[in-house]
This record gives sequence, structure tokens and C-alpha cells, in this order.
Amino acid sequence: MPQLQVHDSADEACRAVAAEMARCAAGGAVLGLATGASPLRVYAELVRRRREDGLSFRRCTCFSLDEYWPMAREDPRSFRQFLRRHLLDAMDLPEERFHSPDGSVAPEQIARHCAEYEARIAASGGIDLQILGIGRNGHIGFNEPGAGRDSRTRRVELAPGTRADAAAEFGGAERVPRQALTMGVATILQARRIVLLAFGAGKRDIVREALEGPVGPQVPASFLQGHPDVRFVLDRGSAGG
Ligand code: F6R
Repeated sequence: MPQLQVHDSADEACRAVAAEMARCAAGGAVLGLATGASPLRVYAELVRRRREDGLSFRRCTCFSLDEYWPMAREDPRSFRQFLRRHLLDAMDLPEERFHSPDGSVAPEQIARHCAEYEARIAASGGIDLQILGIGRNGHIGFNEPGAGRDSRTRRVELAPGTRADAAAEFGGAERVPRQALTMGVATILQARRIVLLAFGAGKRDIVREALEGPVGPQVPASFLQGHPDVRFVLDRGSAGG
């Protein structure tokens, strides 16, 4: 069963997760990185530690969880650039050890590209620590409701609500890409340790469903219940008091 870690505030929670990531980084960990609002303060704290304490990602390898498709690699709205902007530009991670699904691959190359992404994760030794957020519909990565336990990195359709949530960045929901490349549920579950971040009362109901509801594709985050080392890091809002 997932462990629960409830903090008084999201700030405090993010400092604790950053400290954990920093310890992993010191050992040269393979890190799986989510984008979105939830990990932002974790990344800001890691950047602060880089500047003030000399934290190093020199020995790390990083894998991005997902990417819009189609999406140019240099597009500021891409998840690749998000991770650069909020974390990796400030770190000393060697360029060749930052991996992200390539939203610019041609349709006929997608299957091969996704298989290669899986192979790269395996060749790196597997993900030691995977950071996740959770969508309001229970998605993890872009594994929307309906995604199977055995799913692997692949192209997926985004749910209307997921596109609506990204509307501001694209100037309207209709401009948000309809598809994405994402690590699958099985890919995520292979990580040795998983930390899911969820903050605010708006996440309370879906967090409860993921933790206590039936395990199945209707709430992809519920598959985490079967992982041996997963922790939900919450604040008072998402924990429901
Ligand atoms: C991000 C991702 C998504 C988000 C989720 C929560 O790479 O794959 O699953 O983690 O949509 O987003 P926030 O944190 O913005 O609420």
C-alpha cells in the first residue's frame, strides 16, 4: 500500500522531497521527472541547493515522463523546455543524460521511438526515483482513464479536461495538442521508488480514489496501490484534513 506523508504546507512538502532527491542525486540516481505545477517548488528548491550548497546532478540521469505530440523540441511549451527552464538549466547534468520523449518524431517513427525510450530507461539501469503528479481525472503521466496496467511508452489521446487544464499556456483548449507521448503505467511501476505530489483541496477527491478506490484503468493512479515503494506526499488540503 502507498505510504502517506502529510505536511502542513506544500512548501514544506516540496522541501522534504527536494532533500530526498538531493540525497539520490549524490548517489548518481536515475530520476524520472514530471512537469506541471505540483513539482515546481521541488525543482526551485533543488536549484537553490545547487546555487547555495553545490548540489550536483553530474552523476545523474534524467528521464522526462511525457511530452506533447506534435511538439518541437525547442518550443517553450514543450515539457522538455519546462524541465530545462525550471530545473536542468541550473544543474550540471551532462546533456546526453537528459532524455525526453521527442514530440517532433514523424508518425511512422513513433512506435520505434517509444520502444527506444523504454530501451534507454532499461540501459540506464532503470529509474531509481520517479516523481509524479496526479491529474484531476486520476491520470499519471498522460495515462488517461482507460490506460492499462501493462501499458508502455506510447502515443495517447489527451482527455478533454487535460487539454482544458493546459488551455492558458496555448491560448485556448482547442490549441492544446490532442495527443502526447507518455511513459506507460507499467513503465512507471518499474521505478524502484515513486513519489506522487498532490497539493490543494482540488486534488482531495482524486487522491482518495487513487489510494482507497478499486484498482483499475478508470483511475490510472490506482495502479500505484500495487507498487512496493510508493509515497503520496500531500498537504492538508489534498489530504482532506
Ligand atoms: C506532467 C504529467 C501530469 C501532471 C498532472 C498534474 O508531466 O505527466 O500527469 O503531473 O497533470 O499536474 P499539476 O501538477 O499541474 O496539477
